[in-house]
Order: sequence, then structure tokens, then C-alpha cells
Amino acid sequence: MGYRVWRSVTRNCLRGAGGYAWCRHGAPEAAVHAACLLLSCEGMEEPLDTLREEILVQHQGIEEHLRELEGLARLAQEGDQSIDDPLRDCCRVLLGNLRKHLDFEETHLVPRLEVLGERGERQARMLLREHEDQRELFGFVFDRLASQHWTTQLLARQLCGFVQILRDDMMHEEDGLLSPDAFPGSSARQA
Ligand SMILES: [Fe+2]
Ligand SMILES: [Fe+2]
Repeated sequence: MGYRVWRSVTRNCLRGAGGYAWCRHGAPEAAVHAACLLLSCEGMEEPLDTLREEILVQHQGIEEHLRELEGLARLAQEGDQSIDDPLRDCCRVLLGNLRKHLDFEETHLVPRLEVLGERGERQARMLLREHEDQRELFGFVFDRLASQHWTTQLLARQLCGFVQILRDDMMHEEDGLLSPDAFPGSSARQA
């Protein structure tokens, strides 16, 4: 078992609160315990198909949030000044959720890709690069939210552009890495 597999399996193990309860040996020796832990975890690792479904469900949640933000931005652009705080709050929550989503993909998906050979390593690298760009964009938007120099209408216009970029990125991910044809371990791909 290579280091990366070990790291991925162990991380998944330790994530579960009952990780050590899977060990049925009473032996206190660390080596035996570790071997038992790894074997137990390998059997319990989340199937890749399930992980893909989980990511797609998160995308749906983000899309709903994007629609909400878009609706507020539309009202703001029509001149509704009372929408300023709700617009900024909605966007702040969205940014928090987006960061959690990126963290989730990096914690759960990237290690699984990295052990799948050259193609998986390339997919992981590409995902991380895209996330880097997205985090940069989130920082840019976050700064704009904090700035009172931007009028509600100007902010709303910028946020509509932000929503479109995020939609394109999610679509790109779904048509690329997450598509049944490209996703590693996908039952559609194996068929
Ligand atoms: Fe992503
Ligand atoms: Fe994603």
C-alpha cells in the first residue's frame, strides 16, 4: 500500500467518530491495531459513485443559492435600496458555503483521484488549480462586499457577473470531471 492510499484511507478513518470501534482486536500493539484499522477502512470507504452523487447534490444547493442571490441583485438593480443588506448577507453566506464545498472536494475527492495513476493525478491537479482561481475570485468579491464605496446597484451588477462565472465553473466541472464518462469508478464509465 502506497503512502497516498494510506493517507487517504487513514484520513477517512479518522473522520468517522467510531473509527477505532471498527477494530475488533484487543491487542494493544500499535502495528496490529493500525493494520486492522486500515483493513476495516478499506472495506468501508465511500464508493466513488456515492461521492460523485454527493458533490452533485451540493452543486444543486449552490445553484439554488445562486438563484436567490440573482433575485436580490435584480431587485437592487431595479432601484430597491432596502435590498442592500440582504444582498450582501446572502452573498457572504454563499461565499462561506462555496469555500466549504471546495474544502469538501479537496478532502474527499482529491485524495481518491491522486491514487488512480496518471489520469487521476492530472484530474486532481486541474481541480486544485481551478479551486485556486475560485478562491481568488471569492476574495475579490468578499472585499467588494465590505466596501461601502460601491453602490447597491453597482454591487448587484458585479454579483450577476459573479453568479454567471460560478455557474459556468460548475457546469464545466459537471461536464468534465463529474460526467459519467470521465469520473473514475463511475458505473456508467465501467459499463
Ligand atoms: Fe470544484
Ligand atoms: Fe464542485
